[in-house]
Amino acid sequence: MKNGLEDVIAAETQLSDVDGEAGRLIIRGVSLDHLVADSTYEAVAALLLDGLMERSFGEAQLRDWLAKARTGVFDHIKAADATLLALPPVDAMRALIARLPDGEDFDTALRLLAAPAVFLPAVLRMQRGEKPIAPDASLPQAADILRMLTGKVPTREQTAALDTYLVTISDHGLNASTFASRVIASTQAGLTSSVLAALSALKGPLHGGAPGPVLDMLDAIGTAENAGPWLGEALDRGERLMGFGHRIYRVRDPRADALKGALKPLIASGQVDSARSALAEAVEVAALAILKLRKPDRPLDVNVEFYTALLLETLGFPRRAFTGVFAIGRTVGWLAHAREQALDGRLIRPRSVYIGPLPAAA
Ligand code: CMC
Repeated sequence: MKNGLEDVIAAETQLSDVDGEAGRLIIRGVSLDHLVADSTYEAVAALLLDGLMERSFGEAQLRDWLAKARTGVFDHIKAADATLLALPPVDAMRALIARLPDGEDFDTALRLLAAPAVFLPAVLRMQRGEKPIAPDASLPQAADILRMLTGKVPTREQTAALDTYLVTISDHGLNASTFASRVIASTQAGLTSSVLAALSALKGPLHGGAPGPVLDMLDAIGTAENAGPWLGEALDRGERLMGFGHRIYRVRDPRADALKGALKPLIASGQVDSARSALAEAVEVAALAILKLRKPDRPLDVNVEFYTALLLETLGFPRRAFTGVFAIGRTVGWLAHAREQALDGRLIRPRSVYIGPLPAAA
């Protein structure tokens, strides 16, 4: 038995491959750096879903359908009463998604791709006492998310940065939330249930809940000079450094560099708080040095969450909403895996080893 199912092969997939030794992520035959350089979120979503739905489509078609689907789900935010709005944003978003109908797979998939993108900005605005902003079907998903959040059409650099983020996190092998999505799909419970299960798995701090704590760490450190001492004390207390380490990567997480790259145009055009980005850089350098000293047997490097934190903060998302933004991007991966699993048709039903007491002999 392997604790945490480490290294256990639990599915065959054509969707993505995480090479932990080489630090490489491949999505449907294309490496992440190529996707980041050449593809929009809608193009990668079409690539991931290709051949898995009842119909085939490309980037432009999906962009149109998604824009219409955003308008279609906007009405559902009326269900957001005071009890729901008192929840953390990711839980409020999950509660709203739970009320969506589960219908024909293709329409359901479009609704599920659009819903988090509409619900998260709406919930954040309503929690601030502001009116939600309706989707604009002329915009691509990334630009519309930012517009629905702030009420302003985002800059080219902001749109590109969020689009890169959505591409970067679209799929990532058999991570905990994707596995949850596949387990549910194998029971034929429907795509909405798969996405709800995956979202529930995502929000834990060891998976998609880390970037908020990354910012808490940057705040607590405060200055570049304090990085080394602060990190040393955190490790002395037995804490883990948020935004570092990974179950599969033994080298740098390629997604960290994709996001660091996405921040560059924002930095160059003065749209990032330069003191904040300098602090993040100093913390990264100090953390890598101290982890090397303290954990010589375990290669630990920066993971996707570290630069996610800086990027999403720069784009105006409050840190309590970061997991929800992750869900907006990862839903397409969950859906593609759910469909792949459903087409496989076999119920996922592993076994356990019983280590409890035996009944007393009669
Ligand atoms: N800081 C300090 N030490 C660490 C860290 C860290 N971030 N990550 C792992 N270690 C140490 C750990 O203490 C252990 O040391 P020892 O053998 O001396 O006890 C050793 O490395 C191996 O740890 P493990 O628990 O076997 O590693 P894992 O594969 O279960 O951990 C992880 C993966 C992501 C849960 C872990 O690295 C972690 O907790 N990181 C911080 C939280 C974080 O950034 N999460 C986001 C992950 S990336 C998002 C995603 O892809 O889902």
